[in-house]
Amino acid sequence: MTASLATVSYIGATILFILSLGGLSNPETSRRGNLYGIVGMAIAVIATILGRRVAGGGEIALVTGSGYAWIIGAMAIGGTIGLIAARVVKMTQMPELVAIMHSLVGLAACAIGYASYIDTSTVFATPADETIHLIEIYVGVLIGAVTFSGSVIAFGKLSGKIGGKPVLLPARHWINLVGLLVVIWFGGAFIHAENASVGMTPLIVMTVIALLFGVHMVMAIGGADMPVVVSMLNSYSGWAAAATGFMLSNDLLIVTGALVGSSGAILSYIMCRAMNRNFISVIAGGFGTGGGAPAAKAGEQPAGEVVAVSAQETAELLKESKNVIIVPGYGMAVAQAQHVVNEITQHLREKGVNVRFGIHPVAGRMPGHMNVLLAEAKVPYDIVMEMDEINEDFPDTDVAMVIGANDIVNPAAQEDPTSPIAGMPVLEVWKAKTSIVMKRSMASGYAGVDNPLFYKENNRMLFGDAKKMLDEVLVALMA
Ligand code: TAP
Repeated sequence: MTASLATVSYIGATILFILSLGGLSNPETSRRGNLYGIVGMAIAVIATILGRRVAGGGEIALVTGSGYAWIIGAMAIGGTIGLIAARVVKMTQMPELVAIMHSLVGLAACAIGYASYIDTSTVFATPADETIHLIEIYVGVLIGAVTFSGSVIAFGKLSGKIGGKPVLLPARHWINLVGLLVVIWFGGAFIHAENASVGMTPLIVMTVIALLFGVHMVMAIGGADMPVVVSMLNSYSGWAAAATGFMLSNDLLIVTGALVGSSGAILSYIMCRAMNRNFISVIAGGFGTGGGAPAAKAGEQPAGEVVAVSAQETAELLKESKNVIIVPGYGMAVAQAQHVVNEITQHLREKGVNVRFGIHPVAGRMPGHMNVLLAEAKVPYDIVMEMDEINEDFPDTDVAMVIGANDIVNPAAQEDPTSPIAGMPVLEVWKAKTSIVMKRSMASGYAGVDNPLFYKENNRMLFGDAKKMLDEVLVALMA
């Protein structure tokens, strides 16, 4: 492949990646976005393996027939693993799959860094060019190693193989600072090393420190902050890929890495804001609960009286309403109640009721969790609203129906400054004429805090599995 054809292919792939990111920002265009990404990646891979650096293109033929057999073999193995993972992994295991994928990007950056350093065939025009190349290797391996070990620990925590409790070493900030200074000092030694065998020692020392730093950083982060950490590692993996692009002088990898790096950073920021966390304190670690959904403490006195209702009474309330807002949460995902939610929505809309959905940015257990479930059940996109779009409409709402959600509708976030979730923006369902909370018990949600909503005068509790109770509500509505 000629150099100009390769450049055109790379520009085409870059445009497709940008269109892909744009498409993924909206459920209606997300399928198309995925398709752009797939086509862009196919073009990028083909242009790379047929391009000058791999195939030679009139200069040195780096890979010959048997070399291509290795590349195709590796692609077949990798592709098969990816295909199986995509089919087998459940929706709730998505964050851990993403975490382990990020670790591979980090590992690749490390491997390419070492390979570029060992490979002495490159001839540099000036000493400055060589220094820049060495800095690229050092920084690339540094980011890659932190991403690799951090992502492996994140995978362990998200899959429950490692406890969710933050591990806080004494003087941990000092340990990190000393590590950073040692890395900078060895960076100087690496760049000024006379030859590759002398420079290998500082490179290995830095890699070990970076690996330990990645472990330390993620171990110090509590269960509730793990989503932010996953998107932060996503961002790191992008920068690791960009660093790899610099090492290999591959423009496409630099651009793609920068796209992933910056979009991951923006997502981390948005999630921090939605959970009322300061980004720096998440990275510094120590926040969040031990993970999971702890039950209400045994023997604890309820903070008031709750009024339970039946499915029949819920159906009556819905029938008499003009405006209904449904707030889904983690419990809807557990119960797989999205399909019956859609049936109820359709039925009410046919009867002229204005039904809309209010989606909290951290509802469920991963970004976009509720949107994916509702899209799967074919709920129309135009009635699915973001929290900011719908929060002001609760006072004009007859029934706010909360399905398996808890923390995201907890008024303590606004009313109690001592609450662990104080300051987190929440959906103000208690401002509706009547709110109905569907859950199985009085147990708390992910953050492990009691919810004063349950005891409000205008609140009703519909106890039971969300799917089972909604099936009963639907039957009562049809009757
Ligand atoms: P939660 O606060 O965890 O509440 C979910 C509720 O669903 C529980 O109180 C549970 O009560 C109920 N439930 C469980 N299974 C059910 C079933 N089969 N039928 C009916 N109800 C059921 O969830 P949320 O309101 O969606 O808030 C999300 C929380 O997770 C936030 O604290 C957020 O910070 C955190 N988090 C979010 C993410 C992302 S990125 N979305 C990632 C990690 C953590 P019962 O046991 O009484 O039924």
